[in-house]
Amino acid sequence: MRHKIYVTRAIPDLTIKALEAEHDVTVNPEDRALSPEELRRNVSGCAAIVSLLTDRIDGPLLDAAGPACRIVANYAVGTNNFDVPAATDRGVALTNTPGVLDDATATHTIALMLAMARRIPEAERFLREGRWDGWKPMFFIGVDVDRKVLGIAGAGRIGRNVARKARGFDMEIIYSDVAPNREIEEESGARFVSKDELLTRSDFLTLHVPLSPETHHYVSTHEFGRMKPTAILINASRGPVVDEKALVEALREHRIWGAALDVFEDEPKLAPGLIDLPNLVIVPHIASATEETRLQMGEIVSRNVLAVLSGRPPDICINA
Ligand code: DGY
Repeated sequence: MRHKIYVTRAIPDLTIKALEAEHDVTVNPEDRALSPEELRRNVSGCAAIVSLLTDRIDGPLLDAAGPACRIVANYAVGTNNFDVPAATDRGVALTNTPGVLDDATATHTIALMLAMARRIPEAERFLREGRWDGWKPMFFIGVDVDRKVLGIAGAGRIGRNVARKARGFDMEIIYSDVAPNREIEEESGARFVSKDELLTRSDFLTLHVPLSPETHHYVSTHEFGRMKPTAILINASRGPVVDEKALVEALREHRIWGAALDVFEDEPKLAPGLIDLPNLVIVPHIASATEETRLQMGEIVSRNVLAVLSGRPPDICINA
């Protein structure tokens, strides 16, 4: 039997085609996040919804979809847009796309670290503005990455992947998490430390914790005060893990050397003053944006949706 599927944003054609082969699919034709009211209108009568992190999936939305709704498949590894109990109460499966983003996100983290350490975006802007008048010995001086201390907050799949890649720079790797993690220690020789040691010893501090009440503002004024004045903070996890207002102050007052951000507290808005800071690299939430990764995310989404709509369990279900 053909079911109705609503896809909240354009995603790879291959994914849409796989869904269309078996069901009736409607894709939001506009490349913008829909308001909750628009979403509620569009999902009416759908058996499956393919959503993004920008779509709040809660009780009112699921009620608007109606009793036919059996699965909401996030085209993302993150799940912080889901009201999990609301879906569970209504018997709706929630799925995400773990695993396939790890390499892209970890590589992007390393790219952000290098870009800030070697001031690449700043130097590129300078060159494009036609301001270069020749080689100078004291020009765009950055900092070395090799053999420095890399601090990793969160030893999940992405944190561990960053650690493995950082071994190529002979970095000393320390990490903090709710408990020691044998895999990161065996794979990368990383050492488990307290949060305070992570802050005080890291030359580069990279965040890979999930967003939760415990990790909200994991780095704020107190933490910036504990970091080295030469330290660089990297965030490709979730924006609210860093207190952006405190970051603006810390960068302005040179309490740390620099920061590189892929994610922001209130996307797509930026905290006042952030964009004017020279000691900051910022990109618009693109850590998983590679052709290969986005295709693989789409394959997981279509596999899970097709499975659930034909009465089979999805590969992964966060509320099973
Ligand atoms: C995710 O999947 O959670 C990313 O942040 C967006 O691709």
